[in-house]
Amino acid sequence: MKHLLKMLDLTTEEITEILDLADQLKYELNHGIPHPHLKGKTLGMIFQKASTRTRVSFETGMYQLGGYPLFLSSNDLQIGRGEPVQDTARVLSRYLNGIMIRTFEQSEVEALAEYGSIPIINGLTDFCHPCQVLADLMTIREFKGKLEGLKMCFIGDGNNMANSLIVGCLKVGMAVSIACPDDYQPPKEILDFAAQYDCFEMTNSPAQAAKDADVLITDVWASMGQEDEAAKRREAFAGYQINDELMACAKADAMVLHCLPAHREEEITEKVFEAHAKEIFEEAENRLHAQKAVMVKLMA
Ligand code: CP
Ligand code: NVA
Repeated sequence: MKHLLKMLDLTTEEITEILDLADQLKYELNHGIPHPHLKGKTLGMIFQKASTRTRVSFETGMYQLGGYPLFLSSNDLQIGRGEPVQDTARVLSRYLNGIMIRTFEQSEVEALAEYGSIPIINGLTDFCHPCQVLADLMTIREFKGKLEGLKMCFIGDGNNMANSLIVGCLKVGMAVSIACPDDYQPPKEILDFAAQYDCFEMTNSPAQAAKDADVLITDVWASMGQEDEAAKRREAFAGYQINDELMACAKADAMVLHCLPAHREEEITEKVFEAHAKEIFEEAENRLHAQKAVMVKLMA
């Protein structure tokens, strides 16, 4: 494993190794055991979109590993003024030991990896959000004690979160059921991957997708960069909500996850959100541990 660009690139073994290391690093942090695996190393963090969790968890995680994080806003970098990513990659590779990037186009992340000579970590693109899904899998395993054989249901937009969840959950042996409106299905590349699995289902009925689910997950109806479509999307996604009625279709002990930020009374009701806050905020915490594991795997 040289980079973390998308879940499609990871083997099941690599996912399990990351989750195991993440559990270990969480234990060590909680027991005051130092783990300076990246002493003297630097991570550049390029942000072309906003972030609360990704920025703070990578920055803190790098510090806890003994390394140094640099926050690089695209407003300040020459990349924001049109310097090609191919050149940025070759320059930054000479200063840094790794790059985390949050941007729009997946091709930009792939180009950084192709032209640079240091590990690249995808901190979210329009196509996928692998760091979030590693934290989600870690959280599911923590609460349920296993992954294989569980059913994950995703309700809403066939977006970056849906894409990474489909691939990640199928790779670890979970059944996956997706409910999204016909015009908002995941891209062909993801559906082609999922088509290899008998335990994958896509429907436009949230109730059908949620049937007997162990884990229910949703995400915002309009992602970053889609602010202009918000009104149209509110109409298209009406009914694609995790609420009490939908929870009744799932297993009685089903857990709920949300990558955050959440829009209450849109994709999830305030009531369900607060009833499952324990899982949702553990999920947010696990970003820290899962990403530290990724950085150690790639950069130590
Ligand atoms: N879930 C997530 O990636 O959050 P941020 O946008 O705050 O980083
Ligand atoms: N789908 C959301 C996820 C935010 C973490 C977005 O891309 O804005």
